[in-house]
Amino acid sequence: MKELISSLSRQYTENLIAHRRYLHAHPEPSFKEYNTREYIVSVLKRAGLEPVTYEGGCGVVCRIKGDRPGKRIAFRADIDALCMQEENSLSACPYRSENEGVMHACGHDGHTAVLLAFAEALSAHRELIAGEVVCIFQHAEETPPGGAAYLIEQGALDGVDEIYGMHLWPALDLGRIGYTHGAMMAAADMFEVTFTGPGGHGSQPHNSKDVLLAACSAVEQYQGIVSRQVSALDTAVVSVCRLTSGTAYNVIPDRAELSGTVRTFSEDVQSLIMERIDRISRGIADMYGIGCEVNYSKGFPALINHASVVDRAIQSISAHTPIQPVSVQPVMIGEDFAFYVKSVPGAFFFVGCRNREKGIVCAIHSPVYRMDEEALNAAFECFLAVYLDSVK
Ligand code: NI
Repeated sequence: MKELISSLSRQYTENLIAHRRYLHAHPEPSFKEYNTREYIVSVLKRAGLEPVTYEGGCGVVCRIKGDRPGKRIAFRADIDALCMQEENSLSACPYRSENEGVMHACGHDGHTAVLLAFAEALSAHRELIAGEVVCIFQHAEETPPGGAAYLIEQGALDGVDEIYGMHLWPALDLGRIGYTHGAMMAAADMFEVTFTGPGGHGSQPHNSKDVLLAACSAVEQYQGIVSRQVSALDTAVVSVCRLTSGTAYNVIPDRAELSGTVRTFSEDVQSLIMERIDRISRGIADMYGIGCEVNYSKGFPALINHASVVDRAIQSISAHTPIQPVSVQPVMIGEDFAFYVKSVPGAFFFVGCRNREKGIVCAIHSPVYRMDEEALNAAFECFLAVYLDSVK
């Protein structure tokens, strides 16, 4: 099997790179991946497949049936880009973004390329398939509510026994694949708090109610939640990232707004933090005699891998590819693959794409993000190893 996988990998290298570069040059933001969808559909049709598209979003699902009966196994790639300007020079990246203000800075161009080549390879080798492979090209991963929940609602996971996904990961060297046995990525929530009250002349604070001081006090108090109220054995982040108030140096403002993010792995910790933010904000407003509005919106849930699926997958990868599995720590970033593994058993991986020798070290979401394209082959080989081993 090792030889088959490496020969397919060589055979599909050109496709992997061509897909990735086309998509990189033509990025589209969440919920507007129209041209991307067209590209995906045309590649799949050319491979003799029958992709399905949807009215609510630009996702594409493609089922590839084998000749033999067997399991139904799904693989997912996200297809959207970010609203940011690419700053790579043409010499560093000849296929840099042609769309002003939009960039594939999270590597989803690579994810899509890998799944396209995977579908092409399996379509050309139906004898390798037992049961059915479901390729999910998912829109809008970057922007809640995301595309995963919608595609699941539309039946993308119907009858699916297992699902796999991966993110190209510049915190890992090329040639490695990172895994966790449980929590891998965090629930990512957003909160906004607004304090309102009578402002006044900066020289006469006693005649006003200082909403700005109240907001500052709230920012401080929130930091006591994780340090004093969440168990030391649990993991959580509360970050206030915006505080807006006032218009002049000598006017006490009548409104202060703040917003931030909460990251957790467990629903109990999430509920606790949600309740504490509300209680602290209202308590402070009460103390200052001012008004207060709290809005807390839950984003994607935490991504929790299924340990037995992970174990089987890393065994297959070790046995049939040169890629080295490494245990990694979870990260507090959100990822809507979480919805799939809440519905069916599955696993998500980080595929290393950093190459220090080539100077490719930049983190995702950077305007000069690049990946070592050999990582596309690595991811392709990992998908093949996991799949072929599960149906052999
Ligand atoms: Ni991403």
